[in-house]
Amino acid sequence: MSEQTTDTPPEQLLRISLRVNGVTRTASAPARRLLSDFLRHDLGLTGTHVGCEHGVCGACTVLVDGQPVRACLMFAVSAQRHEVTTIEGIGNDPENLSPVQQAFTECHALQCGFCTPGFVTTITAYLEDNPDPTPEQAREAISGNLCRCTGYQNIVSAVCRAAEIRRDRSDRTEIDQLVDLGTPDGEGGSRA
Ligand code: FES
Ligand code: FES
Repeated sequence: MSEQTTDTPPEQLLRISLRVNGVTRTASAPARRLLSDFLRHDLGLTGTHVGCEHGVCGACTVLVDGQPVRACLMFAVSAQRHEVTTIEGIGNDPENLSPVQQAFTECHALQCGFCTPGFVTTITAYLEDNPDPTPEQAREAISGNLCRCTGYQNIVSAVCRAAEIRRDRSDRTEIDQLVDLGTPDGEGGSRA
């Protein structure tokens, strides 16, 4: 009588290519690999955090084509042919923080920081659509993200402050452009 074997065949791996933070990255992973795990374990982008793995906490939020998405609810293969932006793509230079990151530091909107990448990606996308939110709208915008150690009030303040910083930076860019064009506001043309 032939012996029965219970060995399961090795899982098939796929070559998965994703456009992440403007760069095409490729790695081998099973078709069932979640986007969150693919980013963290296969691509080494550990800024995306995983809390609940059930789509509840928002820690794993990344942007897919500019829209916030729970990376723990999406397969990596499904993200092919889409633009994925992680927290590393929003800003990893302490000298050049994004408006939301700067607002979080100014408003003391983080403590342990575990939830912060998910908040920053969520708020960054939100402010693109709603650049001047009221505190009430800011509260609503972050209602899908959980923080276990910060009072939400500081995060709400950070949303409003981030909106201000965005506006200031865009005003400054416009003034710089006027100066470079040599308009009456900036006689003399472009600066050296
Ligand atoms: S880890 Fe994805 S929502 Fe919590
Ligand atoms: S700052 Fe610690 S969980 Fe939010």
